[in-house]
Amino acid sequence: MSTHHIDIEFALNGRPERHHVDVRDNAVDLLTRCGLKGARESCGQGLCGCCTIYVDGAPASGCLYPAWKLQGKQVETIEAAVAGDEPVDPVQQAFIETGAFQCGFCTPGFVMMTRKLLELHPSPTDAQIEHYLSGNLCRCGTYPEIIAAVRLAAERLAGRN
Ligand code: FES
Ligand code: FES
Repeated sequence: MSTHHIDIEFALNGRPERHHVDVRDNAVDLLTRCGLKGARESCGQGLCGCCTIYVDGAPASGCLYPAWKLQGKQVETIEAAVAGDEPVDPVQQAFIETGAFQCGFCTPGFVMMTRKLLELHPSPTDAQIEHYLSGNLCRCGTYPEIIAAVRLAAERLAGRN
């Protein structure tokens, strides 16, 4: 075994994974090797939110999270949002209906943070929306549509309860 590598086991979207990882790799590098492309590395500095994943249920920047530190963790990515009976989850559907993207590069990160926001604050205030999405950047500037998507998703989810 190389001194730069370590064996880890973790759960990825509910499925067990075992990998021999380079200690210099980040979580996005590892997820890409697992065939998942939803979490994207852009700034690489924890500033844009494109790489957002959940680690043990908490949002994390995959670009800053060392892959080896996923040992024993539950990891969830944007790909898990389409699991289950529904073809598209309500948050993604709201983004589609409001046209809350142009190039779409930032969208998985925004969807992940919106899902977490609505999980914890089903009827979010403007301040809560701003707080949860403050770490996500959209270079195409679709912020008004993204806010509209968050509100639409909140209404839809509330209507189900
Ligand atoms: S790529 Fe991770 S925060 Fe920008
Ligand atoms: S839609 Fe292009 S960066 Fe957000």
